[in-house]
Amino acid sequence: MWSSSAVARNIAVLLTISYNSLLQLARGSAVVKSGVSNYSFPDDFIFGVGTSAFQTEGGWNEGGKGESMWDTFLHEHPTFTVDHSNGDVAADSYHHYMEDIELIKKLGVQSYRMSISWPRILPNGTDNNINQEGVKYYRRILEELVKANITPVVTLFHWDMPTPFMNLGGWTNAKVIDYFEDYARVAFNLYGDLVKMWLTLNEPHESCLSGYGNTGLVPALNSHGLGIYLCIHNSLLAHARVYRMYEKEFKPDQKGKVSIVLESVWTEPKDPNKQEDVEAAENYLQMHLGIFAHPIFSEEGNYPRVVREKVNNMSRLQGYSRSRLPYFTDEEVTALRGSADFYALNHYTSVSVSPSAMEFYWKVPSYYHDTGVRMEGDPFWARPGAIWQFLYPPGFRKLLNWLQNNYKILKEIAIIVAENGFIDFGGIEDYDRVDFYNDYLYQLLLAIHEDGCNVKGYFAWSLMDDIEWRDGYTHKFGLYSVDFNSPNRTRTPKLSSYNYANIVRTRRIDFDYIKRPEDLNTTALKGL
Ligand code: NOJ
Repeated sequence: MWSSSAVARNIAVLLTISYNSLLQLARGSAVVKSGVSNYSFPDDFIFGVGTSAFQTEGGWNEGGKGESMWDTFLHEHPTFTVDHSNGDVAADSYHHYMEDIELIKKLGVQSYRMSISWPRILPNGTDNNINQEGVKYYRRILEELVKANITPVVTLFHWDMPTPFMNLGGWTNAKVIDYFEDYARVAFNLYGDLVKMWLTLNEPHESCLSGYGNTGLVPALNSHGLGIYLCIHNSLLAHARVYRMYEKEFKPDQKGKVSIVLESVWTEPKDPNKQEDVEAAENYLQMHLGIFAHPIFSEEGNYPRVVREKVNNMSRLQGYSRSRLPYFTDEEVTALRGSADFYALNHYTSVSVSPSAMEFYWKVPSYYHDTGVRMEGDPFWARPGAIWQFLYPPGFRKLLNWLQNNYKILKEIAIIVAENGFIDFGGIEDYDRVDFYNDYLYQLLLAIHEDGCNVKGYFAWSLMDDIEWRDGYTHKFGLYSVDFNSPNRTRTPKLSSYNYANIVRTRRIDFDYIKRPEDLNTTALKGL
C-alpha cells in the first residue's frame, strides 16, 4: 500500500516501463515467446477466477446487511482511500450477480472463488440474528453456479469483519475467535450442501501487517510491535478452530475441504554469492510465509524456529519480560498441525533481500525491524503496472518448489493457487496483463511438469475491476473492466479475458493468441 498520489505513481510507473525494458534488453532477459506451450495443464487441473464480497458487491446497507469495518471506516475517514472512494456500490454485484455468472461462464472456468460478507448474513456479527435476505442472496448465487457446473470456493473472511468486532479490537481480541466459529457454523449449515471447498481467512499476513501493524488497511491500528503478532496468533487459532469444528460437525456428511489462504512474495537473495543475503532471503520467507504455514503444514508444527528466535531476541533486547509473539499451548499446536486439506497460495510479486539492522521507514519495535532484512525490487525485473509489483515469473516457480520442498504433506494434499494477477490503471487492451498470465502460467507448467510440484488449480485475480482496498478504484485487476461512472456498472471484456479463456479451453498457452499491435499484421481482436 502506498500513500503517494495516484498521479505520481503513474508517472513513476511510466518512467520505469522504459527503464525496465532497456535493462531487460541489456541483460537479454526480455524473452520473446511465441507459439504454443510444449506442456499442457493436466486434465484434473482446475481453472478458476476470484472476487471478494467487499471489493465487488456494494449494496452496503441493502437487504438487511450490517456494516463491515470497511464500510464504517471509509465513511468515517473518507480520505483513507487514495481517490476518497468507498465500497458502497463497488461493482454492484449485489444487483448484477447474474450478469457476473455469465462472465464466469464465458471464461469457461471450472471454479469461482468468492467470499461471504460476514455482516450480510449476521448483521451484528453474532448468530442471534440471521439476516434471511442475505442468506437468500448467497444461496441464489451458489445455486446458479452449481447449476452451471462451476464449483464454488468460498472464503469466510476476506477482511470485511462486522464493525462491532472492530470496535472490540478485531483480531487482537481472542474472544473474536468464538464469534468467528459461530459465523462459520452458520455458513456451513446454510451452504454446506453446495460448497465443498471452504477458505477460512484470506491473507492473514497482509490483513495483520497492514491492518494491525501499520495503517495500510482497516482497522489501521498501527500497533507495530504487538497488535500485529496478536492478530497473527489469533488468526491462526481462528482458522484451526473452524477447521476442527468442520471436521467434527460437518465433514462426515458434507465431505468438503477446508483451508486458509496464505499469500507470499518470492524472496531472491540480492547477491546470490553472499551467504548473508541467501540466509536473509530464507529467513524473510519464514517470517512472511513460514509464520503461518509452518504451524499448519510442517511435521513438527508451531512457529518456525527462526521466527521464534528473532521476535524473542528482539523483545528481550527491548526490555520486554515476555515475547511479543505469543506462545501456543500444546493442544493448540496439535489443533493447528494438519489443519488444511489443500494449500491455498496467493502470489503477486518478488523481492530482492539483504540483511539490515535498520531502515529509515522502520518503527521500533515492529515486525519489519524484527525481520532484520531490507527488501527492494531488482532493477532487472520489469514493473509495468503498480509500483510494488515486480514481475519475476521464475519467482513463482521457485516459490512453488520452496513449498513443495519444505512441507512434505504437499505430496498428499495439493497446492491451489488461489490468487495471481496483474495490476494496471485501466484499459481494455491490456497487453501487459496478457503477458503476465502467459508468463506466470508458463512457470506453473514448468513447476508441474519439470519439478513435480503438486499444483492442482489456479484462480486468476480478478474476475472484474473492483475496489482495491486503500487504492480505491485507481488500480485495476480485472479480466473484465467495470465502468464505475455508469449507473449499471457496465462490464466489458479485456483482451486478457479472451486470452485466459483460450488457455482454459485449450489447456495450453498460445503466446501468439493476442498480439500487440506492433507485432500484428491484422487487428488485435482477429478471430475473437
Ligand atoms: C490480495 C487480496 O486477497 C485481494 O483482495 C486483493 O485485491 C489482491 N491481493 C491484490 O492486492
